[in-house]
Amino acid sequence: MRDTTPCNSLYIPFDCEITAITDLTPREKLFRLIRSDGTPLGHLPGQFVQLSLLGWGEAPLSIASSPTREGYFELGVRQAGQLTTALHRMKVGETVGVRGPFGRPFDLEALNGEDVLLISGGCGLAPLRSLIQYCEDRPQQFGRVTILHGAKSPADTLFKEELARWEASAEFACHLTVDSATGNDCFTGNVGLITSLIPPLTITPHRTTAVIIGPPVMYRAVIAELKGKGLGSDRIVVSLERQMRCGVGKCGHCTIEHLYCCQDGPVFRLDEIEQLRGAL
Ligand SMILES: Cc1cc2nc3c(=O)[nH]c(=O)nc-3n(C[C@H](O)[C@H](O)[C@H](O)COP(=O)(O)OP(=O)(O)OC[C@H]3O[C@@H](n4cnc5c(N)ncnc54)[C@H](O)[C@@H]3O)c2cc1C
Ligand code: FES
Repeated sequence: MRDTTPCNSLYIPFDCEITAITDLTPREKLFRLIRSDGTPLGHLPGQFVQLSLLGWGEAPLSIASSPTREGYFELGVRQAGQLTTALHRMKVGETVGVRGPFGRPFDLEALNGEDVLLISGGCGLAPLRSLIQYCEDRPQQFGRVTILHGAKSPADTLFKEELARWEASAEFACHLTVDSATGNDCFTGNVGLITSLIPPLTITPHRTTAVIIGPPVMYRAVIAELKGKGLGSDRIVVSLERQMRCGVGKCGHCTIEHLYCCQDGPVFRLDEIEQLRGAL
């Protein structure tokens, strides 16, 4: 049900200090933030915040770190337009405004004991990283965890060091691919679309849930491969992006038919949205 709380605090940003900035690629940076009042953000994997900069406005950004990593939260931000360019120019110690956390998170209870197949394309690894870190920190809650990630090229791959750690980890199966690589990339991994990683997998459909986050073009092809492996729409979870303003179900900018992406989502089970026009 939609949140109808007449609570002004939903609209008032609180200050957060940037405590670290890491270059992920030439276009993407990871910002580590803490609330200036010292309280935790209180998020769950899959949620997002509205980040504001005075004079530049506000943008929805997924939380890229797990709540199990206490004392901070992280945002992986692609330089897209005015606000994200201004954010990319900021330095450690400076302050931004934040509202949230908002949105429906991943259903961790439903994932309890399940084999989970975590599939991301491009920038989608930022929001998925929150859930991957959660699985890393609470391995007893999950069955087999498999990570598939596809990027345009080796240079466009986010979180390279963490991906290498997940590839080497005994707790995860982790498979990576790039759409294309040149000789200069010194890349020895798989070259091909993310869909090419699915056919070799052994999946037990009745105890597997797949989570997909990536560019719109990726969803249909990946879903078709997963259904070919026997996964039903109730076992496929997607996270969707829409243009957002309020983030709290009031302005109507983010609707998918009767659903509000900011509150009913951004995380949806496929069977909740696959019949809705324009959802995927
Ligand atoms: C729930 C949600 C989570 C998001 N998480 C992330 C994240 O973790 N990291 C990240 O880098 N970006 C994320 N985005 C996209 C991010 O909000 C936009 O890139 C940002 O608003 C651009 O702001 P800007 O002022 O820099 O650019 P603008 O000048 O507003 O726009 C620049 C370009 O970005 C496009 N754009 C603007 N808003 C969106 C949007 N909501 N979705 C897709 N494209 C958009 C515009 O069409 C334009 O082409 C998320 C969006 C949503 C809805
Ligand atoms: S962003 Fe305003 S209703 Fe969803």
